[in-house]
Amino acid sequence: MFILKKYALPNVAHFRKISRTARLSSDELVVHRDSADNNETTPFEFTEANMTRLNAIIKNYPEGSKRSAMGAALDLVQRQMGWVPISAMHKVSEILGVPRMRVYEYSTFYTMVKRSFKGKYHVKVCTTTPCMIMGSDIILQAAEQACGCKAGHVSPDGLFGVDEVQCAGACANAPVLVVEDDYYEDVTVCDVEEIICTIRNGGIPQAGPRSGRFAAEPSCGLTSLCNEPPKPGHGVQPALLKK
Ligand code: FES
Repeated sequence: MFILKKYALPNVAHFRKISRTARLSSDELVVHRDSADNNETTPFEFTEANMTRLNAIIKNYPEGSKRSAMGAALDLVQRQMGWVPISAMHKVSEILGVPRMRVYEYSTFYTMVKRSFKGKYHVKVCTTTPCMIMGSDIILQAAEQACGCKAGHVSPDGLFGVDEVQCAGACANAPVLVVEDDYYEDVTVCDVEEIICTIRNGGIPQAGPRSGRFAAEPSCGLTSLCNEPPKPGHGVQPALLKK
């Protein structure tokens, strides 16, 4: 009795704090589960323009290697529909003449293939080590707040979907925010608010580094390769130069 009294917890909820990391898009269940809007009968046909484009892409590959166009085909589906339902995967397997399993494998391996609706604008915040060191946690919070939804979810108006992703491949410009095809680099909380607000108002924010540097140049200015590069033919023996 004494022990119970002594160790009685006055407020269990207060005592036991539970925290968890945000849902990563790479953590999504790779097994397809039929739903009302994503099943074998979900209507999907390539538009005429996309079909012409896909046929042209397929011709880039040698006879018998049509399957190499799988990434491009799924990308076209995604640009047409906004995401990739299972019926579209079946259409791609039919066009490329590969077993459906090959398309499932591709679609579940690459997180750039959206297997569910992720909002009109898919906002991805990289939280891998270089971005994490440069403050991606507060960038993610700012993105969630500006978009009006938590990571792994879509905003109530369907305009934004936010996801926490692994390395976006622009580590030299960390922290990085990606919206659809555009990379916003060296971002601050204010940049995130401005980017999301511009998109919400129908504008297109300027992509690239927000720190003012060019591409991935050192933030303190150039430390090497500061001079004009030599012209073609530099250092070549005179006898080898074309007369
Ligand atoms: S770690 Fe963020 S882009 Fe590579």
